[in-house]
Amino acid sequence: MTLTTYNRVPVPSFMYGTAWKKEATAHLVQLAVESGFTAVDTANQLIHYQEALVGEALQSLEKKGVKRETLFLQTKFTSVDGQGGRPPYDPSADLSTQVRQSFDSSLTHLHTHYLDSYVLHAPLSRRGLGEEDWEVWSAMEELYRSGKVKMIGVSNITAGQLDLLCEQAKVKPMVVQNRCFAALAWDKQVREICQAHGIIYQGFSLLTANREVIAHPEIRTIAQRVGAGPAQVIFRFAMQIGMLPLTGTTSQQHIKEDLQAEQLTLSSEEVHQIEMIAV
Ligand SMILES: NC(=O)c1ccc[n+]([C@@H]2O[C@H](COP(=O)([O-])OP(=O)(O)OC[C@H]3O[C@@H](n4cnc5c(N)ncnc54)[C@H](OP(=O)(O)O)[C@@H]3O)[C@@H](O)[C@H]2O)c1
Repeated sequence: MTLTTYNRVPVPSFMYGTAWKKEATAHLVQLAVESGFTAVDTANQLIHYQEALVGEALQSLEKKGVKRETLFLQTKFTSVDGQGGRPPYDPSADLSTQVRQSFDSSLTHLHTHYLDSYVLHAPLSRRGLGEEDWEVWSAMEELYRSGKVKMIGVSNITAGQLDLLCEQAKVKPMVVQNRCFAALAWDKQVREICQAHGIIYQGFSLLTANREVIAHPEIRTIAQRVGAGPAQVIFRFAMQIGMLPLTGTTSQQHIKEDLQAEQLTLSSEEVHQIEMIAV
């Protein structure tokens, strides 16, 4: 299954996330792709991700016949504040240069000459968008225009910030990636803006941010009916409400189970039931 952005780039409907995998990153990325994932999310941010080890996995996969063009690679630009003191660029350079240097370093890590998606890890401003955010976004737009990346996006963004970006950017984001809390109606406000603009909404930490929902008896009942586990129900629910979920599993069994979520069907009543659990 694929989703399509407003600029008509097809995007796989489920993504494998590589945060916090440390030295197991290469092995797990290989396993995920060999099991059926075609989209991989990472970031050029050493405190949480090992982008170079994602690249190592891609090289091994290529040797086994998995071609670059069959994969969807997404990585991120992280500002100095989020880099834990080890930025992959000159921190004293201007922001546009930092974005370009980080991007080039990602291409090197991932052994590729293009990216499918490049995401701003988070706006620099807590509220609204400041001058620095616009400078970073212009650099992202420039990368998009260069043809080295097929889509650009933003993560950890509020509805207010996304509204501003959509209104004022020369190139609107094609993807938004947010932590998705059931208690915020599964980030409904942001998802609605995405839907209105043809932006793909990627939800992360669907399991870890919603433990009480996953343990809820109604989820267990639905899981029993469809013959699956609660995690699979949550991933399928996310897909049915138009979201592209990420999974961060480190287990071979869960990689298989998570992929099977694509084959499930929840009734509209069940989808509504899940939407109402955390309200
Ligand atoms: N943009 C950002 O700021 C940002 C921040 C955080 C994350 N992300 C991205 O989102 C990805 C996913 O994040 P996440 O790791 O928080 O997501 P997650 O999938 O909600 O959480 C992973 C946890 O769920 C468990 N799990 C997965 N499938 C399961 C299953 N079928 N049954 C039972 N447990 C299951 C995993 O355990 P096992 O390992 O035992 O399977 C692991 O403990 C990250 O890797 C990263 O790429 C982005």
